[in-house]
Amino acid sequence: MSEGSYLPSVPLDEYVRIVAAQHPQLHGLLDLVRARSADTLSALLSLTNEFDSDDTGRGDSYRRAQQDAFVRWTGAHRLLSLATPADPAGDVVILDVLGGDGTIARAVGGRADSSAAKLTILTGDISGEMVAQALAYGLPAVRQAAEALLLRDDCVDAALLAYGTHHIAPADRPRAAAEAVRVVRPGGRVVLHDFDESSPMARFFTDVVHPNSSAGHDYPHFTRAEMADHFDGLPVSVQVLDVYDPLVIRGSTAEEVRDRMCDYIADMYGIRSYLSAQRNNSAAWDLLTEFFDHSEYLSGLSSPPTGPVRPVIREHDGEFAAEVPRVAIVAVAEKAV
Ligand SMILES: C[S@@+](CC[C@H](N)C(=O)[O-])C[C@H]1O[C@@H](n2cnc3c(N)ncnc32)[C@H](O)[C@@H]1O
Repeated sequence: MSEGSYLPSVPLDEYVRIVAAQHPQLHGLLDLVRARSADTLSALLSLTNEFDSDDTGRGDSYRRAQQDAFVRWTGAHRLLSLATPADPAGDVVILDVLGGDGTIARAVGGRADSSAAKLTILTGDISGEMVAQALAYGLPAVRQAAEALLLRDDCVDAALLAYGTHHIAPADRPRAAAEAVRVVRPGGRVVLHDFDESSPMARFFTDVVHPNSSAGHDYPHFTRAEMADHFDGLPVSVQVLDVYDPLVIRGSTAEEVRDRMCDYIADMYGIRSYLSAQRNNSAAWDLLTEFFDHSEYLSGLSSPPTGPVRPVIREHDGEFAAEVPRVAIVAVAEKAV
């Protein structure tokens, strides 16, 4: 990124002109006073993050994996349902705060037949490279930190903090929750998704991703109590749920779906050299089966979500699917009217 630019080679004023022309709805929601605040801008522009590129971490690999926006659709669809307020009046506008290059927006756009078609997703992200790619996909997108959103008060129906909330430093998480509540209208919802500290996912990040990815993964996850506590003092009512949020890849043979799943996980988590060092993809799959085994974790939940408890490859009507379970904890906060 050129020094001091808002997006790679794009200063803030030019970004604002582009959004006014191409995404007038998002433009109308931007708080330009906040966006132009020297403190907000300098905090945003001083950051390099691991999702910018493979030189800074795993940005290019991560975006390569997300070219298939449907791998996490089961969980994303459930989060979007939880985010949709009980009283929707027309189209529902959802801010995806940690939206990357618009994975959820692209999946929604590709599901014109589903109820998700009534949703408009605005993609936010702290990484200029991620936001530039989302805009290149034709999506309304804004570069902003979760802790200092650039949107107006009460302007969206819901805000999603998902698929990476653990990247926000623990001390900043209450601020991110407060910002999400600020931009959501009364009666709107904030959905906060991450993994339980005691879940197999947290162990996978600690034991596999941290030692084997170039940027490491030294980010504490959440407990149920912490999730609810982040909303303390805010005008919301909160409940915390367990949500089945698997990775699913479909194809025409068992080997194809297994190999594509190994590839997806290698890119998504930046652990290609670790998985490639296994004897072959069959051995890599066996290893993933061990790490993503949720049987013990699920047996400790009072009402566990349904779904396979460990990775499986299934065949149905000649189509194969590799399914890797993940179970997330999700806080749903509804803003008082
Ligand atoms: C694991 S990725 C998920 C991206 C996208 N939601 C997806 O599922 O493909 C996490 C994203 O959070 C972004 N991020 C990390 N810290 C952030 C913060 N404080 N504010 C906004 N975005 C942040 C990263 O730049 C990255 O794109």
